[in-house]
Amino acid sequence: MDPFLVLLHSLSTGLSNSELTELKFLCHKLVSKRKLERIHCGLDLFLVLLEQNELERQRTQLLRELLTSLRRVDLLQRLDDFEAGATAGASPEEAGLRAAFDIICDNVGRDWRRLARQLNVSDTKIDAIEEQYPRNLAERVRESLRIWKNLEKENATVTHLVQVLRDCKMNLVADLVEEKQQAQESQNKIQSMSPMT
Ligand SMILES: *[C@@H]1O[C@H](CO)[C@@H](O)[C@H](O)[C@H]1NC(C)=O
Ligand SMILES: *[C@@H]1O[C@H](CO)[C@@H](O)[C@H](O)[C@H]1NC(C)=O
Repeated sequence: MDPFLVLLHSLSTGLSNSELTELKFLCHKLVSKRKLERIHCGLDLFLVLLEQNELERQRTQLLRELLTSLRRVDLLQRLDDFEAGATAGASPEEAGLRAAFDIICDNVGRDWRRLARQLNVSDTKIDAIEEQYPRNLAERVRESLRIWKNLEKENATVTHLVQVLRDCKMNLVADLVEEKQQAQESQNKIQSMSPMT
């Protein structure tokens, strides 16, 4: 079973009725009234958010904000534990991409459209991203990268990303990503040689 769904289920069972009411209120701008009326437990709401792409395994910011509003530090802790475990258990390729995404999000700002185009994100999607994140450039970059990764699937590699950055003349960012990649590779080598793992 998908571990993320298991996590969502466990968060849902930890919610009281009044907390659910509060969550529905907090989401009233994201979820249509018709859908909200059919939500009877936390899981129903999470599934709608998943379906609407407001939430996914790699993008839990909204869930984090909701749990923070409820002041459910215990549930936030469960989410943190899950994400820490997911990072530790990720394949080296996945971990490499994640690190590259972080670097790119931190270092590509106003030129994000150029990068998004080079990543084959359509103009319609680019406009939608802009609307979705009116004030947050880093989130626009992350969303573009996420769309690219979903399109490219197994061809979404760090090497490919570095090439895209160079095609966009973002050589400094490309260098940072490559440095990080090399550091991770030597780290992985050391780990695979260690008898402890
Ligand atoms: C964009 O699409 C073209 C044609 O499908 C493909 O060759 C290219 O690798 C894609 N670019 C990226 C960055 O994935
Ligand atoms: C990945 O690249 C190969 C070779 O260029 C291509 O045949 C395949 O369709 C690509 N996969 C995706 C998901 O784009």
